Amino acid sequence: MCGIVGYIGKKNATEVVLNGLQRVEYRGYDSTGIAFIKNKSIQIYKKSGRLTQLLSVVQPDDNITNVAIGHTRWATHGIPNDSNAHPHSDNHNNIAVVHNGIIENYRNIKTMLLQKGYNFSSDTDSEVLAVFISSIYDEQINKDITEATRLALAKVQGTFGLLVISKIEPNKIVCARRGSPLILGIGEDDNEFIVASDQTAIVDYTKKVIFIEDDEMVVISNDGYYLKTLDNIAIKTKETSLIEFELGQLEKGGFEHFMLKEIFEQPETIMNATRGRMIQELGEIKLGGLSDFTDILTNMKRIIIVACGTSWHSALIGEYLIESLARLPVEVEYASEFRYRNAPLLDTDLVIAISQSGETADTLEAIREVKRQGVPVIGIVNVVGSTIARETNAGVYLHAGPEIGVASTKAFTSQVMVLLLLSIHLGLLHNKLSSNKAKKLIAEINKLPLQINKILSNKDKIKDIAIQLASSPNVLYLGRGLGYPIAMEGALKLKEISYLHSEGMPAAEMKHGPIALIDKNMPVIVVAMGEQDNKIWSNVEEIRTRGGRIILIDNEGNSAGRVNKEDIIIEVPRSVIEVSAILGVIPLQLLSYYVANHLGREIDNPRNLAKAVTVE
Ligand code: AGP
Ligand code: GLU
Repeated sequence: MCGIVGYIGKKNATEVVLNGLQRVEYRGYDSTGIAFIKNKSIQIYKKSGRLTQLLSVVQPDDNITNVAIGHTRWATHGIPNDSNAHPHSDNHNNIAVVHNGIIENYRNIKTMLLQKGYNFSSDTDSEVLAVFISSIYDEQINKDITEATRLALAKVQGTFGLLVISKIEPNKIVCARRGSPLILGIGEDDNEFIVASDQTAIVDYTKKVIFIEDDEMVVISNDGYYLKTLDNIAIKTKETSLIEFELGQLEKGGFEHFMLKEIFEQPETIMNATRGRMIQELGEIKLGGLSDFTDILTNMKRIIIVACGTSWHSALIGEYLIESLARLPVEVEYASEFRYRNAPLLDTDLVIAISQSGETADTLEAIREVKRQGVPVIGIVNVVGSTIARETNAGVYLHAGPEIGVASTKAFTSQVMVLLLLSIHLGLLHNKLSSNKAKKLIAEINKLPLQINKILSNKDKIKDIAIQLASSPNVLYLGRGLGYPIAMEGALKLKEISYLHSEGMPAAEMKHGPIALIDKNMPVIVVAMGEQDNKIWSNVEEIRTRGGRIILIDNEGNSAGRVNKEDIIIEVPRSVIEVSAILGVIPLQLLSYYVANHLGREIDNPRNLAKAVTVE
């Protein structure tokens, strides 16, 4: 989860690393810290809380140095306090370590080190790794921190993105990866390096990067860099890539929060997801990333989609779309459950993994399981060059640009958009969809940016509704058909950023139990959108009869004559049902945002969450 940043070069490393930490803070933010070498000793500053706490105790101008490493933590082992914050050092203050991930066998290693007389000052697994490395380092006659790190990692189970510095070998940073992302940025004159868990920390300084893979190490110094595997085999060459986004995309651009900016970017991000992929005149879809996959797409007989959280909700919409447009059976799985269920796969299956970050550990492990079984897997991913993008056999990028708000918004609508394009493509390939219907769908998709703008221009009304909603401790979200995953996504958005309790469910399920919750204090958000219209209106009646407060998301004009004066209605432009899911979610995103804002929550960095969940 969390973020790591390291720098070596001519600039002031303290400043570069603190700046980088600000960029990666969305990845984890319960404590932060920095280590650097000054006056031949390791200096460590660390604080629980946000980066501003750290900035109050360490000033870049007072700490000019050329080598530094830093960390923003998302605690797994030990509460978020100052001593558990990273960097961690060893008993002699010879080295400093920042670590993302979990050392699963840390207890055994700690017991062994305690028996040897080593002490610990934190509850973390990461400090155990730091002391373990230094215990090997202590025994070396010719000090070699790279080798000490490598030997320690050979005995470690679990995951790590790791940076190590040593005051004995002060001009290098040893970096290693297994399961947590690590990217090397190469500065202009090839002897300046910034290494980080996220491209956002690098792009201020360089766009030229190398993606470090699992079980690889890279050692960076003023003289250059070299790579090797954790088995000590030199890696001679490795492709460099260019970061595709611009620095400006990491700024709020006048919005109060990244989340609001990202909600308002959706007319554009939807266009970016479709650009060059639809041929209106022919009613065809071109997905370049899948062009070598046509045989598999044509011959497969079942699709399994794996994802987590918001991406899992888009998968549910994908299921509906693929089943109805391509008439292929689809299963949607929580990646974490699928991974360990030992589910039998068939050689005519195709697996789709959906992930905004491309780094979610549960999804990544599910992909690896699928590949072990020899079944093809494609990715629908936002972050270009991310691990999932690299480990899937083929894929389609969202091109939504960096999503910084921890609550996913624009990535969700782009995922749904790509799934819709894929469904049309599969429908055509499997002769289940006519090109006329495809042309009609494309025409509707082309209307989306303007339609989304229309919903966004209704923000003041949605804000007023949000202020009323903010005093309810519980909110229920209901929908049928495509409205059901939208209801689930609306409920997730609300709970994530406002901390109000909310549940989304199929509208018909309400009467099987949750209806017991309904009284005059329970607001119920019904995502109608013309889906099974008569049935959803019966559900609305059932709620009214029990005094529940209705907030209805519906197509323009659809509710005329049916709403009561106490009902609240938010209208969205009409579209065909396949396209309407994208429209239905936008008022729910705005509603959650304004509730959370009214309650004074930390919208971009909600409590306990992190942007990319890189632990299982
Ligand atoms: C969404 O708002 C989330 N914070 C979270 O559920 C997220 O969608 C999930 O962790 C999956 O992330 P991914 O798309 O990056 O794989
Ligand atoms: N397991 C480590 C800890 O709890 C690292 C967690 C992280 O990835 O932020 O300190």
